[in-house]
Amino acid sequence: MIRAAITGTSKYLPTRILTNKELETMVDTNDEWIVSRTGIRERRICADGEVTSDMCTIAVKRLLKSTGISANEIDVIIVATVTPDMLFPSTAALVQENIGANKAWGYDLSGACSGFLFALKAGAGLIATGSKKVIVIGADTMSSILDYTDRNTCILFGDGAGAVLLEPAKDNTHGIIDEILHIDGTGKEALFMAAGGSRKPATHETVDAKEHFIYQDGRSVFKRASADMGAVSKEIVDKNGFKSEDVKLFIPHQANKRIIDMAAKRAGLRDDQVFLNIEKYGNTTAGTIPIGLTEAVEEGRIGDGDLVLLAAFGAGYTWGATLLKYGPERKATV
Ligand code: UT7
Repeated sequence: MIRAAITGTSKYLPTRILTNKELETMVDTNDEWIVSRTGIRERRICADGEVTSDMCTIAVKRLLKSTGISANEIDVIIVATVTPDMLFPSTAALVQENIGANKAWGYDLSGACSGFLFALKAGAGLIATGSKKVIVIGADTMSSILDYTDRNTCILFGDGAGAVLLEPAKDNTHGIIDEILHIDGTGKEALFMAAGGSRKPATHETVDAKEHFIYQDGRSVFKRASADMGAVSKEIVDKNGFKSEDVKLFIPHQANKRIIDMAAKRAGLRDDQVFLNIEKYGNTTAGTIPIGLTEAVEEGRIGDGDLVLLAAFGAGYTWGATLLKYGPERKATV
């Protein structure tokens, strides 16, 4: 089977920073509580009028620049998001137009915080069946569905996008080795947005009842996330005959530093094997893993052929882990 390799990474974060101090003026919270319970110090928020497709477009333009490929070489664009610009057309269609990817097809995928891992699996499947260049994006404008009077949720999330280029791997020293993914609808009561879909189309009443915002039962999600993300991370490493010390870097979904610590411990990983940037961006939902991957490359924490473990947990419930050997990076020639 043809493996898919990640040959380029990129990210876009809005410039506006919302600090814990600023949140203290908006809801009954404090910096000490937020940092000690979540690890978050600040998050990025889109400017007025800046939307998910804008973040995706900038991330993909950066990806094309760094890898040196042109937009009309792209076969497929997959956007993992729960905050598309509109329910339809897809954000992928808007990105296609913005970058002029004349040959591409594409679609959006709703997997919440596990969306990027789900999209990576879909992209790898397309590579295995003949596609040559697949762009996989994870992006969310969480500020568009947050109630900034609800301290349970508004402190947790931020906006951002990350993108990767998938291409056929030349041999087994690079590429995605395995994916273990799950979905369990019993989580539907714990993390959701009630209205705006076919079940409850928007009405004055749904707006008044704040049903177009995120609801989360934090404790329930916390328990499942820390247990399941850790278990699936250990399972994928064991299943593929590796030891935890073989993992160069664990890049988990960034929802809560305490969840990450517990998951890493359960998977037998040391602190120095764990990538964290939650402090700067909070939870950007589908964005956290590709943004983390991009920063890990930028910071030199992963390089050619390194074993990288990705893991996520989110609404649905959805969760899973992906094991890959990074690169080889495609570099633009000047
Ligand atoms: O990415 C999608 C998946 N999402 C997640 O993984 C999030 C999972 N959940 C969590 O990360 C945590 O549950 C939270 C960070 C959301 C909450 O942390 P917690 O340690 O589970 O706190 P809690 O909900 O048990 O609340 C403890 C106390 C409560 O007060 P009482 O009832 O003990 O008096 C809350 O009302 O903290 C209170 N509280 C706050 N206090 C200050 C809740 N939010 C805040 C806040 N500031 N922002």
